[in-house]
Amino acid sequence: MAGPSTYEPKSGIERWMDSRLPLIRLGYDSMVDYPTPRNLNYWWTFGGILTLCLVIQIVTGVVLGMHYVAHVDMAFDSVQRIRRDVNYGWLIQYIHANGASMFFLAVYLHIFRGLYYGSYKPPREVIWILGVVILLLMMATAFMGYVLPWGQMSFWGAVVITNFFTAIPLVGDAITTLLWGGFSVGNPTLNRFYSLHYLLPFVIFGVVALHIWALHVPGNNNPAGLSVKSRADTVPFHPYYTVKDGFAIILFLILFSVFVFYLPDALGHADNYIPADPLKTPEHIVPEWYFLPFYAILRSIPNKLMGVLAMFGSIGVLVALPWLDTSKVRSMRYRPTARWCFIIFVIACLALGYAGAHNPEGINLWMGRAATLYYFVYFLLLLPILGLVEKPKPRPASIADSVKSHGEPAATPAE
Ligand code: HEM
Repeated sequence: MAGPSTYEPKSGIERWMDSRLPLIRLGYDSMVDYPTPRNLNYWWTFGGILTLCLVIQIVTGVVLGMHYVAHVDMAFDSVQRIRRDVNYGWLIQYIHANGASMFFLAVYLHIFRGLYYGSYKPPREVIWILGVVILLLMMATAFMGYVLPWGQMSFWGAVVITNFFTAIPLVGDAITTLLWGGFSVGNPTLNRFYSLHYLLPFVIFGVVALHIWALHVPGNNNPAGLSVKSRADTVPFHPYYTVKDGFAIILFLILFSVFVFYLPDALGHADNYIPADPLKTPEHIVPEWYFLPFYAILRSIPNKLMGVLAMFGSIGVLVALPWLDTSKVRSMRYRPTARWCFIIFVIACLALGYAGAHNPEGINLWMGRAATLYYFVYFLLLLPILGLVEKPKPRPASIADSVKSHGEPAATPAE
């Protein structure tokens, strides 16, 4: 909550509760009267969308867990049974499988929003770092979830990814054996992945609570990147942003429904309709679309250990970002050169996705290498140097002024 509490209990029950466990006060201060910058655009609706995605994944996941069998002889068939025989199993399974993609789509947009508007800069470094922790947990959860249906891609994806750990000097083999629960990917691997896949979303839930708590201390950043100076810069969260977030959620759910009802397998891989066969390697082993950029970084370096380091390093630089970007100006709206570098960065990320989906040879390999190079140059060279040498554009004196000068669709409080 940014500022002192404005909650006043109205009924006897509210007063009774407030002096024992002030939960209603917490809800009121963080979701009703929470002072929110009046110029937030639609990129700020993804936090709410992400919270919804997490809830959808947990609810559908718990129901799937009631029917799924974590055994190599039955896992594949149990998923087929869920789809064909369990009441509405097809719906729940498609929501869960496509929900993972929608979750990643939203989280990537949420991250790019943060990168563009400098939401990682002081005083929001902790919000950002907790976000990176969430991203890592999401990746681990999605990877292990994909193994559970025990199709060809599940199995071989697990083989490829767990093999990375053997590249770690000295302890690599021991870690891999521990992950596998034996000397190859098998039943113990499937069991521990299922257990962790069930556990991690609740850990994510806890970290999201910290993420939002950390957000409510300094309050939201905004498209102008200016700090809130007076009450005139803000509007209460409710009804202004509950309505805006609600509208964005409806649009998001329409897109989600298009995939669930019309294109349920569009984002998956056909090979996962073939039961896992440890004796038959698929022609191309490709991860889900949301891992492709990282897969491209891994494959752009010929040395296995270096590739693995670069892949983890691509997330590691995000942790250091608040200190790598030296600019005092938050929003790229006022940083013309940095803005161009950011646009090229987005293109590089898309190029990495493309390279990751194709065989690492010829033009694809070089595109992947160039994009990998730019990815690191952007964080490790461009942002540190630009912050020192660039000339930012003049900024408005306050958020209220930026609304006037930028023609932002500002909410006007009915005072
Ligand atoms: C389960 C995943 C996540 C959930 C549920 C979530 C939730 C939220 C919510 C509700 C907000 C406030 C509304 C908004 O600004 O959109 C927020 C803000 C923020 N999030 Fe996340 N988040 C998630 C993942 C991430 C990740 C992966 C990052 C970065 C690596 C991140 C970085 C931030 C930052 C920097 C802010 C402050 C934005 C600002 O005020 O400008 N979040 N998040």
